[in-house]
Amino acid sequence: MLLHIPQVLTAAEVAQFRRALDTAEWTDGRETVGPQGAQVKRNLQLPDTSPLKKDLGQAVLNALSRSPLYFAAALPLRTIPPRFNRYEGGGHYGFHVDGAVMMVGDTTLRTDLSCTLFLCEPDDYDGGELIISDTYGEHEVKLPAGDLILYPSSSLHRVAAVTRGARIASFFWVQSLVRDAGKRQLLFELDASIQALTGAGADRDAVLRLSNVYHNLLRDWSET
Ligand code: NI
Repeated sequence: MLLHIPQVLTAAEVAQFRRALDTAEWTDGRETVGPQGAQVKRNLQLPDTSPLKKDLGQAVLNALSRSPLYFAAALPLRTIPPRFNRYEGGGHYGFHVDGAVMMVGDTTLRTDLSCTLFLCEPDDYDGGELIISDTYGEHEVKLPAGDLILYPSSSLHRVAAVTRGARIASFFWVQSLVRDAGKRQLLFELDASIQALTGAGADRDAVLRLSNVYHNLLRDWSET
Protein backbone atom coordinates (compact mmCIF):
# COMPACT_ATOMS: atom_id res chain seq x y z
CA MET A 1 0.00 0.00 0.00
CA LEU A 2 1.19 3.45 -0.98
CA LEU A 3 -0.58 6.00 1.21
CA HIS A 4 -0.38 9.78 1.00
CA ILE A 5 -1.04 11.41 4.39
CA PRO A 6 -1.61 15.14 3.93
CA GLN A 7 -0.61 17.85 6.41
CA VAL A 8 1.24 15.83 9.00
CA LEU A 9 2.99 19.11 9.76
CA THR A 10 1.20 22.48 9.68
CA ALA A 11 2.56 25.29 7.51
CA ALA A 12 3.89 26.99 10.67
CA GLU A 13 5.71 23.79 11.71
CA VAL A 14 7.21 23.37 8.24
CA ALA A 15 8.49 26.96 8.39
CA GLN A 16 10.00 26.27 11.81
CA PHE A 17 11.70 23.08 10.56
CA ARG A 18 13.03 24.90 7.51
CA ARG A 19 14.49 27.77 9.52
CA ALA A 20 16.44 25.26 11.61
CA LEU A 21 17.45 23.03 8.68
CA ASP A 22 18.49 25.83 6.31
CA THR A 23 21.39 26.71 8.60
CA ALA A 24 22.19 23.15 9.78
CA GLU A 25 25.47 21.33 9.25
CA TRP A 26 24.98 18.42 6.84
CA THR A 27 27.26 15.44 6.25
CA ASP A 28 27.67 12.93 3.42
CA GLY A 29 24.67 10.56 3.33
CA ARG A 30 26.96 7.66 2.47
CA GLU A 31 27.94 7.47 6.15
CA THR A 32 24.80 5.53 7.03
CA VAL A 33 24.75 2.91 4.27
CA GLY A 34 26.77 -0.16 3.35
CA PRO A 35 29.05 -0.39 0.30
CA GLN A 36 26.19 -1.33 -2.05
CA GLY A 37 24.12 1.71 -1.08
CA ALA A 38 27.17 3.99 -1.14
CA GLN A 39 27.59 3.33 -4.86
CA VAL A 40 24.24 4.93 -5.69
CA LYS A 41 23.69 7.43 -2.88
CA ARG A 42 24.55 11.11 -3.44
CA ASN A 43 22.94 13.30 -0.81
CA LEU A 44 23.48 15.00 2.53
CA GLN A 45 22.12 14.04 5.92
CA LEU A 46 22.01 15.45 9.42
CA PRO A 47 24.59 13.48 11.42
CA ASP A 48 23.20 10.88 13.83
CA THR A 49 24.79 12.75 16.76
CA SER A 50 23.18 16.08 15.84
CA PRO A 51 21.00 17.55 18.64
CA LEU A 52 18.90 19.21 15.91
CA LYS A 53 18.18 15.80 14.36
CA LYS A 54 17.03 14.55 17.75
CA ASP A 55 14.76 17.56 18.42
CA LEU A 56 13.18 17.69 14.98
CA GLY A 57 12.84 13.90 14.94
CA GLN A 58 10.86 14.08 18.16
CA ALA A 59 8.71 16.83 16.65
CA VAL A 60 7.94 14.52 13.70
CA LEU A 61 6.93 11.71 16.09
CA ASN A 62 4.71 14.14 18.04
CA ALA A 63 3.04 15.24 14.80
CA LEU A 64 2.43 11.61 13.79
CA SER A 65 0.76 10.92 17.12
CA ARG A 66 -1.92 13.47 16.11
CA SER A 67 -2.74 11.57 12.89
CA PRO A 68 -5.41 8.84 13.18
CA LEU A 69 -4.92 8.07 9.47
CA TYR A 70 -1.22 7.35 10.00
CA PHE A 71 -1.94 5.17 13.01
CA ALA A 72 -4.69 3.21 11.19
CA ALA A 73 -2.45 2.56 8.19
CA ALA A 74 0.87 1.85 9.91
CA LEU A 75 -0.24 0.29 13.22
CA PRO A 76 3.21 1.26 14.49
CA LEU A 77 5.02 -0.81 17.08
CA ARG A 78 8.52 0.66 16.87
CA THR A 79 9.80 3.63 14.87
CA ILE A 80 13.35 4.59 13.95
CA PRO A 81 14.13 8.11 15.21
CA PRO A 82 13.42 10.20 12.08
CA ARG A 83 16.39 11.27 9.96
CA PHE A 84 16.75 14.26 7.62
CA ASN A 85 18.26 14.49 4.17
CA ARG A 86 19.01 17.12 1.57
CA TYR A 87 19.44 16.72 -2.19
CA GLU A 88 20.80 19.52 -4.36
CA GLY A 89 23.16 20.15 -7.29
CA GLY A 90 22.33 16.87 -9.05
CA GLY A 91 22.10 14.90 -5.79
CA HIS A 92 20.20 11.63 -6.20
CA TYR A 93 19.84 8.12 -4.79
CA GLY A 94 19.69 5.27 -7.31
CA PHE A 95 17.49 2.18 -6.95
CA HIS A 96 18.21 0.45 -3.66
CA VAL A 97 16.69 -1.67 -0.92
CA ASP A 98 16.42 -0.53 2.68
CA GLY A 99 17.93 -2.85 5.27
CA ALA A 100 15.39 -5.36 6.63
CA VAL A 101 16.55 -5.08 10.23
CA MET A 102 17.88 -1.99 12.02
CA MET A 103 18.90 -1.18 15.57
CA VAL A 104 16.99 1.24 17.79
CA GLY A 105 19.00 1.67 20.98
CA ASP A 106 19.65 -1.91 22.04
CA THR A 107 16.60 -3.42 20.39
CA THR A 108 16.03 -4.42 16.78
CA LEU A 109 13.42 -3.10 14.39
CA ARG A 110 12.13 -4.96 11.33
CA THR A 111 11.45 -2.43 8.59
CA ASP A 112 7.88 -3.06 7.43
CA LEU A 113 7.08 0.49 6.30
CA SER A 114 9.14 3.38 4.99
CA CYS A 115 8.06 6.99 5.37
CA THR A 116 9.16 10.20 3.66
CA LEU A 117 7.92 13.51 5.02
CA PHE A 118 8.42 16.31 2.47
CA LEU A 119 9.69 19.63 3.83
CA CYS A 120 9.94 21.67 0.59
CA GLU A 121 7.21 22.75 -1.78
CA PRO A 122 7.33 20.86 -5.12
CA ASP A 123 7.73 24.13 -7.08
CA ASP A 124 10.87 25.04 -5.16
CA TYR A 125 13.00 22.36 -6.86
CA ASP A 126 13.21 20.37 -10.09
CA GLY A 127 13.51 16.59 -9.96
CA GLY A 128 13.73 14.92 -6.58
CA GLU A 129 10.76 12.60 -7.16
CA LEU A 130 10.66 9.53 -4.93
CA ILE A 131 10.15 6.66 -7.36
CA ILE A 132 8.76 3.47 -5.86
CA SER A 133 8.75 0.27 -7.85
CA ASP A 134 6.22 -2.40 -6.89
CA THR A 135 4.23 -5.15 -8.57
CA TYR A 136 2.02 -2.50 -10.24
CA GLY A 137 4.93 -0.62 -11.81
CA GLU A 138 6.72 2.59 -10.89
CA HIS A 139 5.09 5.38 -8.89
CA GLU A 140 6.45 8.93 -8.78
CA VAL A 141 5.87 10.81 -5.56
CA LYS A 142 6.50 14.52 -4.99
CA LEU A 143 4.30 15.96 -2.28
CA PRO A 144 3.58 19.38 -0.76
CA ALA A 145 5.65 20.41 2.26
CA GLY A 146 4.26 18.81 5.41
CA ASP A 147 2.78 15.78 3.61
CA LEU A 148 3.98 12.20 4.12
CA ILE A 149 4.12 9.09 1.94
CA LEU A 150 3.95 5.67 3.55
CA TYR A 151 5.15 2.73 1.44
CA PRO A 152 6.26 -0.85 1.92
CA SER A 153 9.93 -1.17 2.86
CA SER A 154 10.02 -4.28 0.68
CA SER A 155 9.93 -2.19 -2.52
CA LEU A 156 12.88 -1.00 -4.59
CA HIS A 157 12.94 2.78 -4.69
CA ARG A 158 15.05 5.74 -5.76
CA VAL A 159 15.19 9.52 -5.62
CA ALA A 160 15.58 11.32 -8.96
CA ALA A 161 18.36 13.89 -9.33
CA VAL A 162 17.57 17.39 -8.05
CA THR A 163 18.58 19.75 -10.84
CA ARG A 164 17.35 23.07 -9.37
CA GLY A 165 16.91 24.18 -5.78
CA ALA A 166 17.05 21.78 -2.85
CA ARG A 167 14.86 18.94 -1.64
CA ILE A 168 14.78 18.52 2.13
CA ALA A 169 12.86 15.69 3.74
CA SER A 170 12.58 13.58 6.84
CA PHE A 171 12.58 9.80 6.49
CA PHE A 172 12.19 6.86 8.85
CA TRP A 173 11.11 3.25 9.14
CA VAL A 174 8.41 1.55 11.12
CA GLN A 175 7.92 -1.94 12.46
CA SER A 176 4.20 -2.56 12.39
CA LEU A 177 2.20 -4.51 14.96
CA VAL A 178 0.93 -6.45 11.93
CA ARG A 179 3.77 -7.85 9.87
CA ASP A 180 1.74 -9.08 6.91
CA ALA A 181 0.99 -6.25 4.47
CA GLY A 182 -2.21 -7.92 3.22
CA LYS A 183 -3.62 -8.29 6.74
CA ARG A 184 -2.60 -4.70 7.57
CA GLN A 185 -4.45 -3.50 4.46
CA LEU A 186 -7.60 -5.43 5.47
CA LEU A 187 -7.52 -3.81 8.92
CA PHE A 188 -7.05 -0.39 7.34
CA GLU A 189 -10.07 -0.89 5.05
CA LEU A 190 -12.19 -2.20 7.90
CA ASP A 191 -11.22 0.72 10.12
CA ALA A 192 -12.04 3.23 7.36
CA SER A 193 -15.45 1.60 6.83
CA ILE A 194 -16.22 1.69 10.56
CA GLN A 195 -15.28 5.39 10.70
CA ALA A 196 -17.46 6.14 7.66
CA LEU A 197 -20.44 4.21 9.07
CA THR A 198 -20.07 5.97 12.42
CA GLY A 199 -19.93 9.36 10.68
CA ALA A 200 -23.04 8.50 8.65
CA GLY A 201 -25.01 7.65 11.81
CA ALA A 202 -25.34 3.91 11.01
CA ASP A 203 -27.02 1.49 13.42
CA ARG A 204 -24.98 1.62 16.64
CA ASP A 205 -25.19 -2.08 17.50
CA ALA A 206 -24.09 -3.12 14.03
CA VAL A 207 -21.12 -0.70 14.14
CA LEU A 208 -20.22 -1.96 17.61
CA ARG A 209 -20.16 -5.57 16.39
CA LEU A 210 -18.01 -4.57 13.44
CA SER A 211 -15.61 -2.73 15.81
CA ASN A 212 -15.42 -5.90 17.87
CA VAL A 213 -14.42 -7.82 14.74
CA TYR A 214 -11.71 -5.21 14.02
CA HIS A 215 -10.23 -5.46 17.51
CA ASN A 216 -10.40 -9.23 17.59
CA LEU A 217 -8.56 -9.44 14.26
CA LEU A 218 -5.97 -6.95 15.50
CA ARG A 219 -5.58 -8.97 18.70
CA ASP A 220 -5.14 -12.12 16.65
CA TRP A 221 -2.73 -10.69 14.08
CA SER A 222 -0.58 -8.31 16.12
CA GLU A 223 2.86 -9.25 17.42
CA THR A 224 4.69 -7.28 20.06
NI1 NI B 1 15.70 3.94 0.86
